Amino acid sequence: MFSSVRTRLTLWYTAILGLILTIFAVAVNGVITYRFHSELDASLASAATVISVSLRHEIQEHHGRAPGEAMFAGVLKTIHAASFPRQAIVVYAKGRLVASKPGVEGEIESPPQPAGAVGWCDVRSRSGARLRLVSRSVFIPEAGVDYLIAVAEPIDRTQSQISFLRGVLLIAVPLALVLAAGAGYLLARKSLAPVAAMSRQVNRITAGKLGQRLTVANSQDELGDLATTFNGLLRRLDEAFEQQRRFMADASHELRTPIAVSRTAAEVMLSSPSRAEEEYREALGIVAAQMQRLTRVVNDMFTLALADAGAYTVQRHRFYLNDLLEEALLAARVLAAPRNVAVAGGPFEDAPYEGDEDLIRQLLLILLDNAVKYTPAGGRVDVRLEPGYIIRVADTGIGIAEDVQARIFDRFFRVDKARSRSAPGGGGGAGLGLAIANWIATVHGGKLEVESSSPGEGSVFRVTLPLNPSPTRQQPG
Ligand SMILES: Nc1ncnc2c1ncn2[C@@H]1O[C@H](COP(=O)(O)OP(=O)(O)OP(=O)(O)O)[C@@H](O)[C@H]1O
Ligand SMILES: [Mg+2]
Repeated sequence: MFSSVRTRLTLWYTAILGLILTIFAVAVNGVITYRFHSELDASLASAATVISVSLRHEIQEHHGRAPGEAMFAGVLKTIHAASFPRQAIVVYAKGRLVASKPGVEGEIESPPQPAGAVGWCDVRSRSGARLRLVSRSVFIPEAGVDYLIAVAEPIDRTQSQISFLRGVLLIAVPLALVLAAGAGYLLARKSLAPVAAMSRQVNRITAGKLGQRLTVANSQDELGDLATTFNGLLRRLDEAFEQQRRFMADASHELRTPIAVSRTAAEVMLSSPSRAEEEYREALGIVAAQMQRLTRVVNDMFTLALADAGAYTVQRHRFYLNDLLEEALLAARVLAAPRNVAVAGGPFEDAPYEGDEDLIRQLLLILLDNAVKYTPAGGRVDVRLEPGYIIRVADTGIGIAEDVQARIFDRFFRVDKARSRSAPGGGGGAGLGLAIANWIATVHGGKLEVESSSPGEGSVFRVTLPLNPSPTRQQPG
């Protein structure tokens, strides 16, 4: 039960609100209690003022202390008793009781506090109730004496008001908390409803239905953001799956052709009991050529599969790029001679480099093979090596139309499928060369690009191989 975010959210919310309300209730209680007591003190002080004025008046009126005090005692018991029925009042002069009046809870026993005191006192009362007392010293010149006036009042009324307030808080705070918890739970459920809906939608998505997307209710909020992010992941997965599907389809197509050709050649040979040796030779020649092509395609696919799985260990060591390039040029010249294509380049300056020599060799051969293969007789291939390193392979061949330049690095992509398969010298490629070359450049921290190319005018391929590459483990294109 506590594992649900909704419940945990509600509990946290309620706990924090409970804490805040408790602090609030304690503070309100303190402030109100203080306020009630200070109001009571103020009313006691004003009663003391009235009493002192009255005492002075009586002493002045009766021209002397003793008759004035006697009159005052009478006034206190009658007029003041009527004005201040709840308060107990005593007036002392140097420890001598001048006058007193009981309040609702009885009389004040003795001069309880020093003059000017404010506080609690015990009274001679029937119930032993607590009284709040204010005492004050008044000098009356006509009498020549300091009088101590003390006024006290039971606090039961104030106390009952405070208790009432406490009662209200004790009921209101838990009630508010229960209501807030309920409302919080509903609110949490409402705000988390899109998450539940999203998880239902996600559950319905299978490998075959990666084209589906989550509904984005509000792209501005966090949940909308989550749905958009998830949709992005789905799109990438969908593309990756689609790429895999296309790869499988293209691969099986590539493999089917040489197998079908070889099978047909063999079947034709076997259909009649005896044939001339020449015919057998011709058929075996076809089978051998197709097997060679099959071997190449399977090897290339294997390289790409290893690269995809990240299982290809790149063996880095030091070697001279110029040597490797010159060696590749020799191989290219062998390939180019029968086609009457000139291969120019080198000798190059020393170019020490650290990388996988076999892979770089493969990269150079792929580019040179393409340059020779897609250049008609009489054409020319030029290779340059610049420090840094940049290798340029330029040809005067058929060129590549701009709209397909980005796709030539895709697996099995060929600009002109029919022509490249029937092209001489290599038996027509499968369209895997540049995908592998691109991967090789990438694992060496570099890149492979078509620098320029236009149909009929030739192409320039540029490989960048930085000297201090940051180690990468990239997937091939
Ligand atoms: N130098 C070039 N001039 C013109 N077109 C080129 C050149 N290099 C590559 N291409 C085009 O790009 C396509 C892809 O090249 P890639 O090397 O990947 O495949 P391929 O040469 O057809 O086959 P493979 O290399 O697998 O034997 C080629 O089919 C061709 O259409
Ligand atoms: Mg090629």
